[in-house]
Parts: sequence; C-alpha cells; structure tokens
Amino acid sequence: MAKMCVAIAAVLAVTALLQTSAAQTVHVVGDSLGWLVPPGGPIAYETWVDLQTFVVGDVLVFNFITGEQDVARVTKEAFNSCNSTNPIFLETTGPFNYTLDAAGEYYFIGTMDRHCYLGQKLAINVSASAGPTPSPQAPTPTPPRGPVTYIVGDALGWLVPPGGSIAYKTWAYGKTFLVGDVLVFNFANGTQDVAVVTEEAYDSCNTTTTIAVYATSPVKYTLATVGEYFFTSTYSRHCNLGQKLAINVTASSSATPPSTTTTPTPSSNPSSSVTSPVAGGPSAPPPQSSAPARAVLGFSSTLLLIALAVVH
Ligand SMILES: *[C@@H]1O[C@H](CO)[C@@H](O)[C@H](O)[C@H]1NC(C)=O
Ligand SMILES: *[C@@H]1O[C@H](CO)[C@@H](O)[C@H](O)[C@H]1NC(C)=O
Ligand SMILES: *[C@@H]1O[C@H](CO)[C@@H](O)[C@H](O)[C@H]1NC(C)=O
Ligand SMILES: *[C@@H]1O[C@H](CO)[C@@H](O)[C@H](O)[C@H]1NC(C)=O
Ligand SMILES: *[C@@H]1O[C@H](CO)[C@@H](O)[C@H](O)[C@H]1NC(C)=O
Ligand SMILES: *[C@@H]1O[C@H](CO)[C@@H](O)[C@H](O)[C@H]1NC(C)=O
Repeated sequence: MAKMCVAIAAVLAVTALLQTSAAQTVHVVGDSLGWLVPPGGPIAYETWVDLQTFVVGDVLVFNFITGEQDVARVTKEAFNSCNSTNPIFLETTGPFNYTLDAAGEYYFIGTMDRHCYLGQKLAINVSASAGPTPSPQAPTPTPPRGPVTYIVGDALGWLVPPGGSIAYKTWAYGKTFLVGDVLVFNFANGTQDVAVVTEEAYDSCNTTTTIAVYATSPVKYTLATVGEYFFTSTYSRHCNLGQKLAINVTASSSATPPSTTTTPTPSSNPSSSVTSPVAGGPSAPPPQSSAPARAVLGFSSTLLLIALAVVH
C-alpha cells in the first residue's frame, strides 16, 4: 500500500513536471532529417507530426541550409496546391525558429523548385493548452494488440533507396515492433535480396558472413524474439548505398501468440546461407546487381521521382 502511494505520488510529480515544461517544447522539424525534400515523399513529415503534440508557446525549429531550402507559412489552400505565390511569410535563412503563438492549424511549405510537390510540406494542429494528452516521454504501457504485418518501406518496397539509408530509418521511426509481428520485404526477384546480419556486419556493410539470406520476393519474416534485428542486402554496394534496416523488437504482441511462427525457408540451401559468398565477389551477385547501384548514383533524382510516383 505504501509502495503504491509512493508510486502514485511519483507519477503525479512527473506529470506536473511534464506539464510545466510543456509550456515551451522545442520541436525540431523532421528531427535529424531536418527540413528538406524528404526521401519517400510527404510521409516523412506526416509521420513526424503524428509523434508530436503542439501547444501554444512551443517552438518549431526548421533546420536547413540557407540557399538550399526555404520555409513559407501559407494558407491551407496554398498548402494543398503547393502555391507559393502569396505566402503569409517566407524565411530564406536557416536554421529558423518559429514560435507557435496561437491555437489552430499551421501550414508550411518549401517554395524552391518542386520541393513542395516532392513532399517538403508540413501541416500541424496547435492546441491552446497541454491538457490531458499523454506526453510521448511518459512511460505508457504497451496496449495489447495482435500481431501486425509491416510492409518494409511501404510502397517504396525493398531496394536501394533514393536519398540513402534515411528512407528505412524514417520508415522504422516511431513504429513498435513486437514478438510475432511480420516484416514483408517486397522486391523484384533477381535484383535484390534480404540478408539478416549481425550489428557489426550491418555497421560495416560487410556481408561476407550472414545469418540468413532470402532471395524470393515477397519475403515474410516473423520477428520471433525480443532484441535488435539488422537487415541488408548481399548485392554489391547495396548496403553502402542505404539498403539497410535496423529495428528493435520490444515485447510480445499479445496473449495469443501466432500459431505459425515459422520464418521463411532460406532460398538457397541452409548451409550456404550461413556463410554466403563474398558480396563483392564475381560470382555472388547476379550480373544485373551493379546496374541498379549505378542508376542510383547517376540518376538519383529520376529514381526519386519514380519512387515518389510509386508512393502516391
Ligand atoms: C496562387 O495563389 C494566388 C493568390 O495567392 C492566386 O492569384 C493564383 O491564381 C494561385 N495560382 C494557382 C496556380 O492556383
Ligand atoms: C532556436 O532554438 C534552438 C533550440 O531551442 C536554440 O538552440 C537556438 O539557439 C535557437 N536559434 C535562434 C536563432 O534563436
Ligand atoms: C486539426 O484538427 C481538426 C480537428 O481534429 C482536424 O479536422 C484537422 O484536419 C486537423 N488539421 C491538421 C492540419 O492536422
Ligand atoms: C568481413 O567479415 C569477415 C568475417 O565475417 C572477415 O573475415 C573479413 O575480413 C571482413 N572483411 C572486411 C573487409 O573487413
Ligand atoms: C518471385 O519468384 C517467386 C517464385 O518463383 C514467385 O512466386 C513470386 O511471385 C516472384 N515475386 C515477384 C515479385 O516477382
Ligand atoms: C534498440 O534499443 C536500445 C535501447 O533503447 C538502443 O540502445 C539501440 O540503439 C536500439 N537499436 C536499434 C536498432 O534501434
């Protein structure tokens, strides 16, 4: 009983603290991504917004390089049509801090070139006071839920992402992965594969040794245990160019574990998958493998447009 009282007092104290400090929360738009044309389109800032609670007095920090980006506050109509003709204001010097001084909806876009059309746009709702909305910092117990199937990269699929590894970081950001959840990797057969690797291999992009390799799309990978998972590709340079995904599996999804916890059978025979051929070696990746890598290097903007077209 005494313990419970102490616990309740602690919770109240923390809540009071959070509400007091909520008077001036600083929101760095896009976090480490900053303010730019996001790889994968507007989903990046939509995802970011979902994780925030905006209250009058909070500050938005738009991190961008002067001359490469700008930020304009615009009307809802201008936001929807990416019309930068008559903005409420335009700021061309980054980084830019903006205080949200009234409740309501705020719309921001980048006015340079096709930046807004490509997803450099942000819509937020600002409420008058902190209210009872739970702070993201507050330790909320994971609500019980059944196993979730995640499509890695959503419509982008599993490939060398235009813009680099930020694409899969953005995708994984804010998602909760629980034991029993399934990752689905969609890719074109013969142009990609999925390699499960150690953290060291992931960090160094050395796929000489892998835990498993799957070459037939779609790969359905069941997250069977709590812990960190690292995925990349054995194709030459794909990892270095950003085809890599790291996730944390935190707990069991629900009381009812999935009846089938089978992970897919590796495409090649199991013994060869444990020690797959050297990624850069002449025999390991099919001849097509270097083509996508070169295309990304040479025509990244074209691919970005294609990727965005696919996303929408
Ligand atoms: C953009 O907005 C301005 C007014 O702010 C309007 O005059 C113009 O017609 C709009 N352009 C388009 C293409 O809708
Ligand atoms: C913008 O806000 C950040 C975070 O509070 C602060 O570090 C920075 O000095 C501010 N910049 C300006 C120009 O006020
Ligand atoms: C703001 O909240 C209102 C009411 O919940 C909703 O209708 C509106 O779409 C929201 N606007 C934005 C920009 O999220
Ligand atoms: C890659 O890792 C293997 C062991 O898995 C190691 O033998 C090899 O030296 C590493 N290659 C490089 C370039 O670090
Ligand atoms: C990949 O190959 C498998 C087996 O040949 C086939 O069932 C699957 O539909 C193919 N996937 C794609 C995306 O082409
Ligand atoms: C997993 O969570 C731990 C603890 O919060 C953290 O140190 C680690 O970087 C996370 N790993 C990944 C892949 O996100």
